[in-house]
Amino acid sequence: MKIVVIGGTGLIGSKLVKKLCERGHEAVAAAPKSGVNSITGEGLADAMKGASVVVDVTNSPSWEDAAVLKFFETSTRNLLAHEEAAGVGHHVALSVVGTERLLESGFFRAKLAQENLIKASSVPYSIVRATQFFEFVKGIGDFSTNGNTVRLPHVFIQPMAADDVASAVARIALDPPLNRTVEIGGPERFRLDELIRLDLAARNDPRKVIADPQAHYYGIPVTENALVPDDEALLGEKHFADWLSEATKQTPSPQLQPA
Ligand SMILES: NC(=O)c1ccc[n+]([C@@H]2O[C@H](COP(=O)([O-])OP(=O)(O)OC[C@H]3O[C@@H](n4cnc5c(N)ncnc54)[C@H](OP(=O)(O)O)[C@@H]3O)[C@@H](O)[C@H]2O)c1
Repeated sequence: MKIVVIGGTGLIGSKLVKKLCERGHEAVAAAPKSGVNSITGEGLADAMKGASVVVDVTNSPSWEDAAVLKFFETSTRNLLAHEEAAGVGHHVALSVVGTERLLESGFFRAKLAQENLIKASSVPYSIVRATQFFEFVKGIGDFSTNGNTVRLPHVFIQPMAADDVASAVARIALDPPLNRTVEIGGPERFRLDELIRLDLAARNDPRKVIADPQAHYYGIPVTENALVPDDEALLGEKHFADWLSEATKQTPSPQLQPA
């Protein structure tokens, strides 16, 4: 089966292409570097010739409100139009668990716009909503840092390994279209402040994490269950502690600059 992975050079895309190739499929890593651009349309018609499935794992280079909305709207419209023309039978897109609960953020308004365009199109689809990747956890702490203090709300989070995300997306891409949204998440639930404390401790990072009910998640006010999936979510296998010990073995501890 020919499967075009738009964003195939990214964190999830590169793992996904590898997994699909290992199963004997023709997986094409499509990205600007390989001459395929979902914004300008460059290379899309050629890439989609003979494709059965298109998987969209792109991300916007800018997360500024207007720019990210323009990116996901333009990219999704272009992809779906080319898929219709090429007779592609399955559009798979990666989105985020809780998107409709996080709409104070322009990023999530853009992801919702992407999902709505997919649902309104005539191309059969599967939308996969994932929780936060383990690889993204450090960024959450960094975003909420002021000096040597990290303030975060004591809400639930159920992160997952990028490798488990790619495995789930590969399975769903090879199955018939669901024409609905499916949620995927990690095997364990944490409190957000507790998760960042574990991450910093493993990196010998001296920043202090404070649970603060007034603090935001990535600039967004969140309720206790806003970030976690429903009970029917498909769960990944990798545990955070195992991933963290592997990840920190390879990376030297960051040195904090005095504030
Ligand atoms: N981070 C999380 O915790 C999380 C959780 C759930 C869902 N998600 C979703 O997962 C998706 C993938 O995330 P990721 O971390 O794998 O992204 P990523 O590593 O930033 O990769 C993004 C990919 O998109 C490509 N791209 C950018 N502009 C493009 C364009 N105009 N045309 C074609 N390709 C383009 C990039 O190509 P270049 O290599 O050329 O830049 C790259 O291959 C995102 O949509 C995100 O919303 C993320």
